[in-house]
Amino acid sequence: MEITLNKPLDMHLHLRDNEMLKTVAPLSAKTFSSAIIMPNLVPPVTTIEDVISYKERIIEACGDESFDPLMTLFFKDDYSYDFLNSAKEHIFAIKLYPAGITTNSEGGVSTIDSETLKKTLEAMSELGIPLCVHGESDGFVMDREKEFVPIYEELATKFPNLKIIMEHITTKDSVEALERHSNLYATITLHHLLITLDDVAGGMLHPHLFCKPIAKRPEDRAALLKVALDAHPKVMFGSDSAPHPKHAKESCGCAAGVFTAPIALQVLVELFEKHDKLENLQKFISDNAQKIYNFKPCEKVVTLEKKSFIVPTSYNDVIPMYAGKEISWSIKSIS
Ligand code: DOR
Ligand code: ZN
Repeated sequence: MEITLNKPLDMHLHLRDNEMLKTVAPLSAKTFSSAIIMPNLVPPVTTIEDVISYKERIIEACGDESFDPLMTLFFKDDYSYDFLNSAKEHIFAIKLYPAGITTNSEGGVSTIDSETLKKTLEAMSELGIPLCVHGESDGFVMDREKEFVPIYEELATKFPNLKIIMEHITTKDSVEALERHSNLYATITLHHLLITLDDVAGGMLHPHLFCKPIAKRPEDRAALLKVALDAHPKVMFGSDSAPHPKHAKESCGCAAGVFTAPIALQVLVELFEKHDKLENLQKFISDNAQKIYNFKPCEKVVTLEKKSFIVPTSYNDVIPMYAGKEISWSIKSIS
């Protein structure tokens, strides 16, 4: 049994820099045509020069693989119209982080409301630059995303021409918010379709499944699964694959992030097959994102076959999700 996917897209990806970039970039570039690259480096990507040079380093790290990195800027509430007008041709979106809410987000925004963000958001609206958001409050960890939903709704209402992407949604509340605003969209990760908090901390603690937002309840996962498996037109795949070295995960003070890039396509096929929804995967993995962002990715055709594959136990010093486990689909060919 085989399935062919056309131009697979990862609409939320962390590639890091330096040695880590060299380890992980080729793995995404192998099976994805394109990906949105998150800007939470240290220091974050905030200038046009940063964007251009980071893009060059990514392309170099990808070697011979054809791959189009879709670059982002790290949101600042004082970006001027003129700056964004010049940045526009180099970026695909801007990523907003609440200050300190996740890995390398200390330079994010402390007050998130339409008035504080007005200068940048008005310019983005006029220039047609989409806004990607890490939507979590600083409240109790299980309620953070739910508490952020009113902020999404305020921004969506005050800036009706701004495309707002609720990144890596994990709750039923976020899925419901999508229906209320025509300019709200969402990415969904692979791991949030598979796990709940029980898999992270219900038994022995699993640091390689610890991420932000943390995996939630079974009913939340069910709501995500429904819209992903139906390829709801407002949702798209974004892995949020976030590599950290083994010592930063298996330590007292575990870094947040699940590394899924090398297995994402194979496991998505397994999941969609299990739910008898394989016919919707092409939309979830590419077509929806092309429509939402209104762009044409570069060519890449990936054929997968139903043949078991043992996930490597590590990629250099990064441990992938399902390390050492058997999955039922493999990459057969890429053209
Ligand atoms: O788990 C996460 N890891 N969530 C994020 O939002 C950031 C990411 C990272 O960069 O490690
Ligand atoms: Zn992320």
